[in-house]
Amino acid sequence: MATTLKEKILDSCDLQGLISDHVNLKASGNHQVGLCPFHQENTPSFHVYSDHFHCFGCHAHGDVISFVMKYHKLDFVGALRWLAKHVGLDDTELTARRQRDQGTVRQRKKTSQIFSEAQDYFSAHLWQQKTAESKEALAYLESRGFSETFLRHYGFGLAPAGSANLYLNLIKKGYHPSDLLACSLATRHPSGTYDFFSRRITLPIWDHKGHLIAFSGRLFTKNSSHTEPKYKNSRYPKNQILYGFHFAKKAIQNKKRAIVTEGYMDTLRLHSAGFLETVACQGTALTVSHIKSLSHVTSKVILLFDGDKAGEQAAFRVLPLSFDFPHLSFEIAQLPVGHDPDSFLSSHSQEDLEAILASAKPLLKELIAHKI
Ligand code: UTP
Ligand code: MN
Repeated sequence: MATTLKEKILDSCDLQGLISDHVNLKASGNHQVGLCPFHQENTPSFHVYSDHFHCFGCHAHGDVISFVMKYHKLDFVGALRWLAKHVGLDDTELTARRQRDQGTVRQRKKTSQIFSEAQDYFSAHLWQQKTAESKEALAYLESRGFSETFLRHYGFGLAPAGSANLYLNLIKKGYHPSDLLACSLATRHPSGTYDFFSRRITLPIWDHKGHLIAFSGRLFTKNSSHTEPKYKNSRYPKNQILYGFHFAKKAIQNKKRAIVTEGYMDTLRLHSAGFLETVACQGTALTVSHIKSLSHVTSKVILLFDGDKAGEQAAFRVLPLSFDFPHLSFEIAQLPVGHDPDSFLSSHSQEDLEAILASAKPLLKELIAHKI
């Protein structure tokens, strides 16, 4: 049964009848032939069947919708609208859809502008403002072993202390409070609207195509209150996004393996040590959606989780999902107890880590060995 307008049109439109309104057609066996309307010719090579047309001269080819698109120079939705009028179908569905599409495109553009403004703001505060706070933040990042070039490349920034610096800055630039709330760069309290990030180092979060979609903010001061989480993240679909994926994609393909860590800092540290094929699942369980993304670029996934019970359990939880990806091999690499990949690299060499990766065991085998 036809459900969408497109299906209804394809069902109810007589292609030969419609084309013969525009082109002189003559019967020829089971179909009709005429001079092609899409190129200059003197002998007819334009053939029209009941459900498609084909030109043996210029290779124009398609159904009734492509004919209307080509002939009347319309886009797809325009052609549907034209045809709906032609056969007397209700096209309100298209108006709603166009409005929706335009709305989404506009919204997406605004969101990406807001994130890019925020990124400029955070990075200016880390690099240009030379305050006691930015010096402290840079000293912290240095203590974690990152070079300036690396920090700049990965977009590190600083959300300075204060209650609504970024918020007021963006409002002054004409952005609407509701958009800043929607991007979760601001939060609303009974007493007012405040910055979501304050006195934290910021890391941009990108989607798999490299679009900036959120930030994570890390505490960097020793005297921060213990009630605050170490990382605070503006809203993004953690269960679909692997941190670092767009940076890692090429390397994953070249090295024919993907390394999955649990943490942002683990992935960043591995990248800075040349293991560019690394992504992070960001402290959540690896999901089917994550694995699907990996399966498009590699056939081998090495889980390099923290060297503790929790890390091991997290790795074993991948096993049931792995059965749906028979062409993907999953291996588990074992770090010494008490280390995460980042801390391991701060006291060991790249070769030491490569040795651990090389001795990674198939996940299933390792789980069985563990149970025994
Ligand atoms: P970890 O606590 O292992 O942090 O959390 P980490 O990555 O080793 O970070 P450092 O080295 O202490 O700086 C693993 C991941 O869980 C998520 C983050 O993605 C983090 O990288 N997480 C953790 C949060 O989102 N919020 C938190 O408060 C803590
Ligand atoms: Mn760590």
